[in-house]
Amino acid sequence: MSETSVKKPYFSVKDIHAYYGESYIVQGVSFDVEEGDIVALLGRNGAGKTSTLRALARVDSPALKRGEIYLNGKAIHPLKAYQAAREGIQLVPEDRRIIGGLTVEENLLLSQVAEPKGWEIERIYNHFPRLGERRNQDAVTMSGGEQQMLAVARALARDVKLLFLDEPYEGLAPVIVQEIEKILLEVKKLGITTIIVEQNAIAALQLADKALILDMGQIAFRGTAQQVLDDQELRHEYLAI
Ligand SMILES: Nc1ncnc2c1ncn2[C@@H]1O[C@H](COP(=O)(O)OP(=O)(O)OP(=O)(O)O)[C@@H](O)[C@H]1O
Ligand SMILES: [Mg+2]
Repeated sequence: MSETSVKKPYFSVKDIHAYYGESYIVQGVSFDVEEGDIVALLGRNGAGKTSTLRALARVDSPALKRGEIYLNGKAIHPLKAYQAAREGIQLVPEDRRIIGGLTVEENLLLSQVAEPKGWEIERIYNHFPRLGERRNQDAVTMSGGEQQMLAVARALARDVKLLFLDEPYEGLAPVIVQEIEKILLEVKKLGITTIIVEQNAIAALQLADKALILDMGQIAFRGTAQQVLDDQELRHEYLAI
């Protein structure tokens, strides 16, 4: 008998359901992600993008009540957020969580208090010279773009395999968005897989390989980023662009 070999997806989300108290928000989301891809997770305000990322990163709220999540065959759904982080899942939230009163370098070192460590600090400065120049500066006094760089750098300092970015371009000038895009393409070259949530859907789609559209807590579209760029009707219906 011939054996049919089915390649296991790198990151697999199977029918997840998540709640804030009684509020049923993530309503049966399923998708697969290939290793090294950049995936744009899009949808209108309130569609459930942030909630989905949080559930996948195993943050306590919203509570994941049903469904399965696998990274490279390892079950993520039974884990707590700190354990998922140990497996290489890093969520950079919208507010970036840069710690004020600490320098850039202290922010980076703080990501390395827990194992497994990722990049050495010097390697980070080689890739992000701007952060090297500002290593002794209070991190919150940096520009928005520099703080977003630091947020990504902190994930690299923690041996990230799967990077979740929630609205990384928010509040940034177009020229700074381009700088962040360059960094994200370098991150991709390192083989790291990224899911990016963005209001600036066009920018996210131009960067991404694949796209997912959420609508009222459910997947309304999954396909390539190019398909969404080419489909004006789809964009209009779900993204209002
Ligand atoms: N902590 C919370 N408690 C209760 N409901 C919440 C909470 N956070 C979000 N929600 C609700 O869950 C739904 C999805 O919100 P979510 O923040 O995931 O959407 P989003 O797609 O990220 O939207 P946006 O584009 O505005 O960031 C919304 O109806 C929102 O009001
Ligand atoms: Mg959000």
